[in-house]
Amino acid sequence: MGFWEQSWKDIDLARVEAYTEGFNFNSDSIIDFLNEKQCHKVLDAGCGCGIYALKLAKHGFDVDGLDVASSASDIASKLMADNGFTGRFTAADIKDTRLATESYDAVISRDVIDHMTKADAKLALKELFRLTKNDGYVIVTVDSLDDEYVSEPHIVDADGNYCFTDGKWNGMVFHPYDENELQDIIGNSTEHLISVLEDGFMLVCRKYADNERV
Ligand SMILES: C[S@@+](CC[C@H](N)C(=O)[O-])C[C@H]1O[C@@H](n2cnc3c(N)ncnc32)[C@H](O)[C@@H]1O
Repeated sequence: MGFWEQSWKDIDLARVEAYTEGFNFNSDSIIDFLNEKQCHKVLDAGCGCGIYALKLAKHGFDVDGLDVASSASDIASKLMADNGFTGRFTAADIKDTRLATESYDAVISRDVIDHMTKADAKLALKELFRLTKNDGYVIVTVDSLDDEYVSEPHIVDADGNYCFTDGKWNGMVFHPYDENELQDIIGNSTEHLISVLEDGFMLVCRKYADNERV
């Protein structure tokens, strides 16, 4: 069983409930952006327990979600249903979702591609673009390298991926991005904007009909 499936299987549901109760459901820059661009149908790719999908639903978006861990997508599906929202929440890898091409006005993926190798992150972005309608948006956030990433046992491979080798993150991968590295995975041919967040970066890319590549 992979790191994420095991983590979500072992999760204390009371912790998820407490997290949900304390979550800030007010609008934020992603939601403001989606409204401004009149996006309605969105996918939360790597949705975890579904907290952000729920926030999107509360703000009127039609939301589906997926996560590589089936335990996570099950929790997310229940969280949405318990709050009166529908949506399709499935277990899938963002590198190969098996969802239909051009299904979403926007695909959001918060703090997911930074938990993949850089090579896999490139494949994931390509897949997220495939799922996005022409003139739609792919919005991705990545976390910064913090003290814990440095102190937990790990090796750093030739591509700069942190591969955790023991302790609570044994089996997890983290790739620390700076603006140059984000630029590197997106390439030059897609209109995009990189913003600095308090604890990482946000990449907003527009998809064009004649520009399928990432
Ligand atoms: C740091 S959590 C972020 C969860 C959620 N996006 C949020 O903002 O609360 C990373 C999530 O990505 C999921 N994940 C990791 N690799 C994935 C992959 N290849 N495909 C889909 N989900 C993945 C994990 O199971 C986990 O739920």
